[in-house]
Amino acid sequence: MKSITPSRYHPLQVSLHWLTVLLVFAAFILGKTMSSLPNNDSAKLTPLAIHMSIGILTLLVIVVRFITRMKLPRPAHASTGNVFLDWLGKAVHYALYALVFLMAVSGMSLSLQAGLVPIVFGGSGAPLPADFFDFAARALHGFIAPALLLLVLLHVGAAFYHQLFIKDKLFSRMWYGK
Ligand code: HEM
Repeated sequence: MKSITPSRYHPLQVSLHWLTVLLVFAAFILGKTMSSLPNNDSAKLTPLAIHMSIGILTLLVIVVRFITRMKLPRPAHASTGNVFLDWLGKAVHYALYALVFLMAVSGMSLSLQAGLVPIVFGGSGAPLPADFFDFAARALHGFIAPALLLLVLLHVGAAFYHQLFIKDKLFSRMWYGK
């Protein structure tokens, strides 16, 4: 059977892309704001519950997205005309998947190490651990966060470079249409 290379991503991939953007952005902002609250403040439990739920949902979305990406037809890699930039573009895409995955997994490891589930979701009434940095996964979670932010900035910068300088209408590939 003849396979045709589409000019844009499948609507499911488009939806999952923008859902990932929304979830990672929300988890990031919430993570940054709640980490400044002291652990003995009971007002920290609600933002923690929302952050953890968003983070777990992000993991599910990214896994489904990666699997469907392999199965669905997708447009050819958008070339810049420069071999190094094209290689970098591909590498950044895989690194984005990897870092979002590691961000969520390190968060879940921290939650297991610190016994957060019964406190945050089970209403156990037990106090939060005095300092999350007593657990190795907290350092990892905090280390991956700025790396992910940097990659996202690179990704967004590259998209604008395509759209505005190469003028290849890259944005339309990640939106709905015929
Ligand atoms: C893609 C998903 C996620 C993103 C983008 C994210 C982002 C962040 C950020 C930016 C911070 C603050 C880091 C810092 O300032 O050093 C943070 C802290 C934290 N995150 Fe996540 N996170 C994600 C997933 C998760 C998951 C799945 C869990 C647990 C199930 C989790 C639990 C925590 C906890 C417990 C903290 C520490 C808060 C504190 O220090 O007071 N995160 N997260």
